[in-house]
Amino acid sequence: MTANNSASAIAHPNIAFIKYWGNRDEALRIPSNGSISMNLDGLETRTTVEFNPSLSKDALFLNGKKSGVLATERVTALLDRVRSLASITTRARVTSENNFPTGSGIASSASAFAALAIAASAAAGLELDESALSRLARTGSGSASRSVPAGFVEWLPGKSDANSYALSIAPPNHWDLLDLIVIVSQGHKKTGSTGGHRLASTSPLQTARISAAPARLEECRRALLARDFSALAHIVELDSNIMHAVMMTSTPPLFYWKPATLAVIERVTALRAAGLDVCYTIDAGPNVHVITTGASAKRARRELLQVSGVIEVLTARPGGPARIAP
Ligand code: DP6
Repeated sequence: MTANNSASAIAHPNIAFIKYWGNRDEALRIPSNGSISMNLDGLETRTTVEFNPSLSKDALFLNGKKSGVLATERVTALLDRVRSLASITTRARVTSENNFPTGSGIASSASAFAALAIAASAAAGLELDESALSRLARTGSGSASRSVPAGFVEWLPGKSDANSYALSIAPPNHWDLLDLIVIVSQGHKKTGSTGGHRLASTSPLQTARISAAPARLEECRRALLARDFSALAHIVELDSNIMHAVMMTSTPPLFYWKPATLAVIERVTALRAAGLDVCYTIDAGPNVHVITTGASAKRARRELLQVSGVIEVLTARPGGPARIAP
């Protein structure tokens, strides 16, 4: 390999409207069900990968700080796939920065592994198409598969590495939706997503959740394509509640909510009853993503900031695809 084998990429995190929770193949991250999400514009991870023959092992720097063994091993696993595809053995230096604060409660693994997949494959001289990049990102973090395509995205679960990838079902400008990210806690959670996926099958509710997932996906896709907010609100809240029911009934149980999480849920329910376009969805943490429309966003944000326990509210519009950065 010659010098200058370096590339940078940018990717956005995403919020799932229909959730990924549980794998049929943990090592490859083949999910138990399909999922649908929206990329979050304005929030981004920027990653540079440089393959350098003088390195004896991969090195990872996150927001300027050298990472520990575990985080580096997860990056090395994805780089190994890239090295094998490109028939190289060179080690890499990876630097990655988020423009949103780490510990703000916004999961960064989706944007991180989407940006890593794009930067690493370009730096290795590979020309992968979107579905191959989505599959590669998926092996680092399942939700990262959905941060590769633009806008509103569906991850087709597939049954093997070859057919488990995400594609865009509508561009960012399809619908004037916003995600108001209501921060109620900035602490680190005890059980991250990877550990949580492993527990999903211990819940007696997971089988029911998985068997009805195709119907929820269909309802969500239809609501999105028709820009039908009340149908979207119904299915997004139902799907989030079902996932949290699985989490709470796992062994050991996972309770991600804080009292302020429920206070936000109650406020969102009241605001929708009062005619605002708002609905809630919650990932593996206590913060609440309030999905709203351009017409309702200003008032919704004002009301949410008044809920006791709310620290701040970030705003994100539908985002574009992960891409090579200049
Ligand atoms: C609750 O993609 O973070 O946010 O593959 O182990 O990195 P790993 O898990 P991850 O799981 C996301 C779980 C979720 C729901 C979702 O985003 O679909």
